[in-house]
Amino acid sequence: MARPLVVHHGPPLGGKSRPPGDKSITHRAYILGLLAEGETAVHHPNIGEDCEATLRCMQALGAQVEVGPGVVRLVGTGGRLRAPDGVLDCGNSGTTLRLLAGVLAAQPFEATLSGDESLRRRPVDRVIAPLRAMGATLSGREGDRLPPLVVRGGPLKGMCFPQPTSSAQVASTILLAGVQAHGPTAVRTSGGVRDHTSRMLRRFGVPVEEQLQPGGVRLFSVAGPARLQGCSLRVPGDFSAAAFFLAAAAACPGARTTVSGVGLNECRIQLLDALKQMGAVVDVGPVAIEDGEPVGEVTVTGPEELHPSDITPLQVVRLVDEIPAWAVVASAARGTSRLRGAEELRLKESDRLHAMAEGLRVLGVQVEEFPDGLDIHGGPVGGGLVRAHGDHRIAMAFAVLGTRAASPVTVDDASCIATSYPGFMDDLRSLGGVVEESPVGGEAR
Ligand code: S3P
Repeated sequence: MARPLVVHHGPPLGGKSRPPGDKSITHRAYILGLLAEGETAVHHPNIGEDCEATLRCMQALGAQVEVGPGVVRLVGTGGRLRAPDGVLDCGNSGTTLRLLAGVLAAQPFEATLSGDESLRRRPVDRVIAPLRAMGATLSGREGDRLPPLVVRGGPLKGMCFPQPTSSAQVASTILLAGVQAHGPTAVRTSGGVRDHTSRMLRRFGVPVEEQLQPGGVRLFSVAGPARLQGCSLRVPGDFSAAAFFLAAAAACPGARTTVSGVGLNECRIQLLDALKQMGAVVDVGPVAIEDGEPVGEVTVTGPEELHPSDITPLQVVRLVDEIPAWAVVASAARGTSRLRGAEELRLKESDRLHAMAEGLRVLGVQVEEFPDGLDIHGGPVGGGLVRAHGDHRIAMAFAVLGTRAASPVTVDDASCIATSYPGFMDDLRSLGGVVEESPVGGEAR
């Protein structure tokens, strides 16, 4: 049932928030916990619906799971998974579906991965091809392009993939198959692709070799089969969740928000450079390495006047999930901000280029849409009813934009925010956001 959300113009946001656990890292912690021997304790996990879907799949595949306050404990299978009784439901989560394909490719049974309507429209051919090359049998709908994805696993041979991928999910899928395969597996990623899987494999005792190659390409190799040993780890705060409050501060003169305990992996924080380029003051506090990931505190202060910024194709990968937040800031800048090389955004939980262009236009912002990007002509932002397209990041982007719009912004359905950030509305309120949620099934005033 739809849950409309109305955000009113209010005072500039101010204060501190602690983002939820990182979604990408939580998925990986659960999946490696399933493959490992012994107990894995995942502290501060993301408790959104996507990671819950992964956790349910872990149970269906034989992990014993105990959920406590702020910690999830899994007893792993030591690599011998249980054949699931039914379809593995990945909900809205592309990361769950694609990474699990890599896990299942090496298991001696057949399993089917599927999800909600949005997920069933997202491509899986990108993981079918490498896993077939390693020896698994996979098939998808519509010429092996879409889920449901049927994986018939078996013994895999390690492989070296020469072509760099710009998808962290694809690279992770290959590494997860590689640790269960016979012989070495190597995968290359183009510069800036998030590297949480290799960092976490090391936490689970698996050596991952890494080489920097020309053009910023990174080569990761693992020797399979590898033994994973359960461990205890703490998930850093999710930069992609924090991004909305940092963007909201940047977009409003006098606003100042701090996010603490947030993951600051270099592959994730290109947005901070864009905010600086636009004139926002960005302070990054001391950074510590916790369980293999950099963590720290970031404060953003909104300047009197914002400059536009361009996002180039090479930068997209480092802010792939922050484009909706960047678009919020761009809409407040004086001048035209350009995004290019972002065609992949059309294949996310929604077509994010279209969803942002459509909503910004409703609010009176002039936007041009291109196959691979947007031109956003910043200016006054008005109110209106925008569609979230069932996409958590679109809903959160328009919610924070509402804090500085001249009149109220209504998001048609904010229930999708629970995908990644169930506490978002509370955190927005605690920073000064004036938010009205209408009751389930009711109309927003
Ligand atoms: C993710 C990788 C990215 C990102 C997604 C999470 C991951 O997708 O957009 O939200 O956890 O590996 P791609 O690998 O498709 O770029």
